Amino acid sequence: MSETNGFEPKIVAYVCNWCTYLGADLAGTSRLEYPSNVRIIRLPCTGRIDANLVVKAFEIGADAVLVSGCHPGDCHYNAGNYHARRRWILFRELMETIGFDMRRLHFSWISAAEGKKFQQVITEITEKTIALGPYNPYGAEPRVEPLSPMPQAAAGACDPAAELELRTAAKRVLESGQANVVIGYGARGPVFITRPDDVDRLVWNANCHQNLATYLKRKEIRALGKAAIVMKGCDERALIILERESQIARPDLHVIGMACNGMGQPKCAACDTRETRFADEKISSAQPPADMPDRYVAVDQILAMEPADRMAFFTAEFDRCLKCYACRQVCPMCYCERCIADKNRPQAIDTSPHRQGNFAWHIARAMHLAGRCVGCDECTRACPAGIDLRLLNLTLARTAEQQFAYRAGMDPALDPLIGTFSLQDKEEFIR
Ligand code: FES
Repeated sequence: MSETNGFEPKIVAYVCNWCTYLGADLAGTSRLEYPSNVRIIRLPCTGRIDANLVVKAFEIGADAVLVSGCHPGDCHYNAGNYHARRRWILFRELMETIGFDMRRLHFSWISAAEGKKFQQVITEITEKTIALGPYNPYGAEPRVEPLSPMPQAAAGACDPAAELELRTAAKRVLESGQANVVIGYGARGPVFITRPDDVDRLVWNANCHQNLATYLKRKEIRALGKAAIVMKGCDERALIILERESQIARPDLHVIGMACNGMGQPKCAACDTRETRFADEKISSAQPPADMPDRYVAVDQILAMEPADRMAFFTAEFDRCLKCYACRQVCPMCYCERCIADKNRPQAIDTSPHRQGNFAWHIARAMHLAGRCVGCDECTRACPAGIDLRLLNLTLARTAEQQFAYRAGMDPALDPLIGTFSLQDKEEFIR
């Protein structure tokens, strides 16, 4: 029996074409020996190495994954590696929260001249992986870990005066031609009022917790013409992101801002946006919360568990996924014409609801919302299987706030978190 005890780890290395791949090539032409366990996959730039690829590697049996590219300042495309570095910071936190074994995920900068470094990195990763043994993150026994109940905000009292004022405002914007449709809350869900005589269908009560911004992306709503929309302060953050991403033209939208004292949802307990800041007209006023709990307390609860317990917890959560994509449909930030989950060439995410595919879907979804999710929790509310999707979004929101002082949709002047970078972004995890 060899010193590997018969275990030959499979290591997938995603490398950029211009530096690390040439470093590997140099190692070869220099006759530097390194373990043959590594499967090198060459991509144009680290900026093109999607988190999904890493997940896919684990899905098909990798025991460890390396992602490697040009040193900062050396990227063939100027800044692909800076963009990648920022995404990796977020991705690592997400994988850590879910409970992946972070000792198996490696990042490095290796230049075309660093054949020796390539040899060392591959040798070290191989030895470390042999010591860790085979890896199957998807073999965890699903276990429901009851989390402590989240602090709940009481639903604010119904405000009949605000409701009356809302109807008056809606009538005025329709009659004046300021808008062709008012998107608001009705007794049984969202309503789309196009005639002034129908404004009495609008309500304002403790059931108005949905984020109506999601309807702005619908073609059938856009076809109705210029819209007025009823927005709470928390929902307004979605408008700021949608405008930044050129999905709405703010001057074409009339926003009726409703002050909100909480709708009794988990998100309301730590809400610090009880009034709209940029609405065209504001109705009523809200009281600042008496006591503001930490908005990331749920993530802290998860991180207090051992990684194996976290994996067991998320396995139990994701095993319930039906792949109905209700989370995507209801999300104000999901507007791609063709979602990655619907693409089958290549198929990054399996369409049938099985464990590996479910992990891939929820990780991809969370990463696509990194720096964009405004915490409306519509995904969690819409999930028919009761998966606490909020935890993934909160994890990334927490990282964004802690590492980049960034909160999605709070400041219209801020550049998007993903799509920009700073030379000061931390890289202590990259060798
Ligand atoms: Fe190597 Fe961009 S070309 S990281």
